[in-house]
Formats: sequence, structure tokens, C-alpha cells
Amino acid sequence: MTDKKASMSLPGGNFDYPVLEGTVGPEVIDIRKLYGQTGMFTYDPGFTSTASCESAITYIDGEKGILLHRGYPIDQLAENSTFMELSYLLLHGELPSKKELDQFSYTISRHTMVHEQLASFFRGFRRDAHPMAIMCGVVGALSSFYHDSTDITDPEQRMIASHRLIAKMPTIAAMAFKYSLGQPFMYPQNSLSFTGNCLRLCFGVPAEPSEVNPVIERAMRRIFILHADHEQNASTSTVRLAGSSGANPFACIAAGIACLWGPAHGGANEAALNMLREIGTTKRIPEYIARAKDKEDPFRLMGFGHRVYKNFDPRAKVMKATADEVLKELNISDPVLDVAKELEQIALHDDYFIEKKLYPNVDFYSGVILNAIGFPTDMFTALFAVARTVGWVAQWNEMIADPDQKIGRPRQLYVGATQRDYVPVDKRG
Ligand code: SDX
Repeated sequence: MTDKKASMSLPGGNFDYPVLEGTVGPEVIDIRKLYGQTGMFTYDPGFTSTASCESAITYIDGEKGILLHRGYPIDQLAENSTFMELSYLLLHGELPSKKELDQFSYTISRHTMVHEQLASFFRGFRRDAHPMAIMCGVVGALSSFYHDSTDITDPEQRMIASHRLIAKMPTIAAMAFKYSLGQPFMYPQNSLSFTGNCLRLCFGVPAEPSEVNPVIERAMRRIFILHADHEQNASTSTVRLAGSSGANPFACIAAGIACLWGPAHGGANEAALNMLREIGTTKRIPEYIARAKDKEDPFRLMGFGHRVYKNFDPRAKVMKATADEVLKELNISDPVLDVAKELEQIALHDDYFIEKKLYPNVDFYSGVILNAIGFPTDMFTALFAVARTVGWVAQWNEMIADPDQKIGRPRQLYVGATQRDYVPVDKRG
């Protein structure tokens, strides 16, 4: 707490508001009393200058391209950690001991199966349903199966629900994938790692034994680690807002999935690969760069730009290296990767992108890897949701446990009609 103040000279007089500082990053002006004292709101559509909460989970320095999870740099975690270890870190705040990690991994593995009746939910979807449409519906429906872990005032039930969500997301995402293929659902194999199990659920078939390629498992593990959490992004803020009303955690995560689906957010990985495929060859890059710069053209370079990063997204750097590694190890030459690299180079030397500080983000290269592994583009965001679930539940738990937590209820700048009287239809013009 500091004794710093922010002074505002407003029509109603001069007002001072406390300045709060965190352990690192921008200080905040505590304006919680502003409306009560002045009758005025602040105005910040898109929340570009608004801190919605206090959090200790993830820190991003957009200018420097830094991403820390509980203080640990993302590149170190991507290189050295596992998704289960990172999940423990995000949920509990510290890296686990070996005993703690083994216990946590065991607990998660014991929740990987879904209620057998859940499989019937899939039958109602068209075979060509987008996997994110299925994820929204099926994850929300989990709340109808788990009445024993929806009392959010009970920390133990909150943690059981969190474990269930982390563990079941790969199973449900894989079921959506299998359903689209007309293949039978696979059952989890708990002897495998979280990532290995997810790959086997997606690519294994009951008719034959399946081995998980260690190169692909390592790449997939990195992808899950890079997507686990990212401060107060749109889908995490959606989960927090849904949770602030006391909604059960399954419904909150379903809301997060819905928000992640958008092409401006998690849907960008699917859109980025589709864009790279549409560009097709490096010769057509200038045409698309020109379109991205054209104010009259709604086209944007998918996988480029970020609300917070005004430098390289540190995740994109790891993703680019992983794309090189996977394609080389799998002996795949994908022209889309050449287009991606050339597009990045041209954009990074173009004044428009330099001036607007637009760099590749986490979604720019991820699709190249997922495509090389064998996933169709419409599964990319579902896999993003599998990873981001641990971030969502960690942030949701932090919010529920916050003694200052209250229902989120923003106000507005009203620009509509002032009061007027009703006119019966036979008297209207
Ligand atoms: C994710 O928030 C998170 O942390 C998200 C995420 C996470 O892990 O949770 O990191 C995951 O969602 C990454 C972002 C994925 N989205 C895309 O790649 C879609 C393409 N990018 C853009 O739509 C855009 O960059 C956003 C949505 C990501 C950010 O938009 P902002 O912060 O609202 O910025 P803006 O739209 O105001 O853009 C600033 C300027 C604008 O030009 P001007 O109006 O100032 O003239 O930059 C331009 C934009 O037109 N611009 C782009 C561009 N992105 C921004 N121009 C061309 N191509 C782009 N990609």
C-alpha cells in the first residue's frame, strides 16, 4: 500500500484517489469511490486502461515481451516443465515437490473419464459441428453430472471441480474430434502423461495399439504449456465475470470456451493457418500485407498483433522454434511454414507494423505445428481451450477466494433516447 494519491479536478470539486502498487508492473488508481463521490463513471471500452482485479498468477510486460507464471519465465517453463507441473504451479502458487507432483498427477488422472451418459450428448450434434460448438455444450452440461462439486463456498469442492475440468477437457475435446471422424471414442489411459493421453485419445483407435511419438508429445506439451494462462485476457475475464455471480465452475468454463472461440482471441490460431493457406505462396504476401494495411479492408493478419504485447509475444518465439523442430523431425516440408516465416520478416520490416508495434502472437505458428501433428484446423481452438482450462480455473479460484470479490457489474455512457411517452400503434406516423 502506498500513500500516493491521484488528484482529479472535476466539475464537482477536487478529489484524491489512492494509488495502489503491485509487486511489479503499472500502479493503479483505486477509483472504487469515484461514482459515489462524484456521480461520474470512468469510460474504458475494451478495458485498455483498466485493472479488473488483483491477481498473483500471471504477469505480462507487453513492452518487454515478458510472461511470468507465478514469477517463472514462460521460456524456462516451456523448456523444463510439464503441463501437470505448470498446472500445480498455477493453482497453488509454488512449484511442487516430487511427492506433491506425483499426488497431483495421480489425482488428475483419476478424473480423466467422463460419465458414460455424456457420450449420448454428442449424438445430438451434426457430424460437421465445429468442435468448439460441442465443447461449449458438453462442458456446460458437466454441471448436470457433478452436483457434489458445485458448492463454490467450499474450497474442497472448488478444487474437485477444478481437477475434474482440467482432467476431462482432453477427453471431451478428443471425443469431439472422434465424433467428427465417425470413429469410436477412446478411453483415457492413465499410465500416459497428460499430453500423451490427449494425443492417444485423438489419434488412437480401439482396433490397434497406439504409440505416442515422443517428438510430437514434447511439441504438444510445449503448446499446452504456452497456452495455459495469460492474465486477464477476454476469456479469462469472461470466466471471472460469470463466476462473480456464483455460477458453478462448469458453467463458467463453458462461458470461457465460448469467448475463446472468437477469431480475435483463441480462434485466431485456426484463422491464421487458414490465412497462410489462402496466401499459399510467398509471392502473394505483398497483396495481403497491403490488405492488412488498408483501412477500407476489414482483413487483418491473423496471428499478428496483441492488446498487451507491443514487442514479440515470448510464446511465439518458442512456438516458431518448435515448428522448425517438429517439421524437421517428422521430415515434413510445409510451404505454409515458409509463407509464415517470410510474412513475419516482411511485416516486421514494414513501417505500418513497426509503428503499430504489431508482432506475431501465440497463434501465428501454433497452427503449423498442430497441422503437422495431424489435427484439422477446426480442432486448434479446442486444443487451446484444453490448455487454457487450468488458467481459467486458477483465476476462478483466486477470484472466489478474494474477500473483496463481488459481482461484476459495469456501467455505461448512455447515448439513447431520453424519457418519452408510449404512443399507441394507431397514433403512430
Ligand atoms: C490471443 O489478450 C490475450 O492475452 C489473448 C491471448 C491469450 O493468450 O489469451 O494472447 C490469445 O487472443 C492472441 C491474439 C489473437 N488474435 C489475432 O491474432 C487476431 C489478429 N489480431 C488483431 O485482431 C488485434 O491485434 C488484436 C485483437 C489481437 C488486438 O487488438 P487491439 O489491442 O484492440 O488493437 P487494435 O485492434 O486497436 O489495433 C491497433 C491498430 C489498429 O489500427 P488503427 O485503428 O490504430 O489505425 O493496429 C491495427 C488495427 O487496425 N492492427 C492490425 C492487426 N492488429 C491490429 N492491422 C493488421 N493486422 C493485424 N493483425
